[in-house]
Amino acid sequence: MLDKKYRELLKKAEVAASNAYAPYSKFRVGCAIETDLGVFVGFNIENSSSPVGICAERVAIANSLVAGASIINSIAIFCLDASEANNQYQTMPCGLCRQWFSELAPNAKVVTNGSERVFSVGELLPNAFSLI
Ligand code: THU
Repeated sequence: MLDKKYRELLKKAEVAASNAYAPYSKFRVGCAIETDLGVFVGFNIENSSSPVGICAERVAIANSLVAGASIINSIAIFCLDASEANNQYQTMPCGLCRQWFSELAPNAKVVTNGSERVFSVGELLPNAFSLI
């Protein structure tokens, strides 16, 4: 069982997911991140022009950066519509978001509603591309 702080962050991600704009995939995702300036949330925002949609994780990170946060400690991802059978896989963050984590939240701990464990960013994206 995950620590209480992660369970509470996942709860905030679940609430955020309920506001997702996902009329095409009907796959609602919420993300809550804990930073040096407190908690910020995001949800996926899709579009008629499908490639321009954005994931919940990057919306949450962008929100926190705009507010001036500089350290992301924890990232909780909640996929409301993950199917029971594939829950663990369907709640893991996509590759683009992992690249964002690698650059903008390298020391964050990552949890999802489909997994009982905490992941490091290095585990999620080993040998990441970086120009810095
Ligand atoms: N999605 C996320 O919000 N985060 C991820 O890490 C994976 C996928 C969204 C994008 C799209 O709106 C929907 O889930 C289905 O792919």
